[in-house]
Amino acid sequence: MKFFIDTADVAEIRELAETGLLDGVTTNPSLVAKSGRNFLSLVAEICEIVPGPVSAEVAATDYETMLAEGRHIAKIAPNVAVKVPLTPAGLKVCHRLSTDGTMVNVTLCFSAAQALLAAKAGATFVSPFVGRLDDIGHDGLSLIRDIVEIYANYPGIATEVLVASIRNPGHIVESAKMGAHVATMPPSVLRQLYAHPLTDKGLAQFVADWAKTGQSILDK
Ligand code: G3P
Repeated sequence: MKFFIDTADVAEIRELAETGLLDGVTTNPSLVAKSGRNFLSLVAEICEIVPGPVSAEVAATDYETMLAEGRHIAKIAPNVAVKVPLTPAGLKVCHRLSTDGTMVNVTLCFSAAQALLAAKAGATFVSPFVGRLDDIGHDGLSLIRDIVEIYANYPGIATEVLVASIRNPGHIVESAKMGAHVATMPPSVLRQLYAHPLTDKGLAQFVADWAKTGQSILDK
């Protein structure tokens, strides 16, 4: 499973990129607004930090303007994935851009039917929003199960399932068990993946016992 980070915070991206665990970045207009940064220079900076796909979303909702914005965004760097909404116009833009060889991430996917459309439109990634479905009392993970199962029936589908709107490590583990290709997560959830009380307890014991030996591995 590929790990993307869902943030527009460059300091966080730099720090997490150094772990070697980061395969890409996703942003959205809300995250860009929160960053207070200029969108185009922000995306260019992130693309330099992370060699993998960096999703940057169009702002318009009509076909012509979205296409123009998408083409403009695509020129920023070869690793940009243009993010478009799962609307009729967004999928038309997806088809045009992917035909031109641009990576496209179709976002705001909330049903398996929508995911089928994204695949047919040639999306590189489809982003089903697990947490937002959970928030309204639905089962977000069952959508991931459905999409992975449906895509597996058609070897010609190259679209990767990018699990989005992740709220906790369980969303990632369950999605991985289902075979989802990518998880994009807030930095806080990525840090939660490391945590286990028995790791902390075990390490404290090893450190204490090692001290009793009086040795140093690096001493000559
Ligand atoms: O970027 C898309 C998605 O991951 C947003 O998540 O937490 O705003 O529902 P969230």
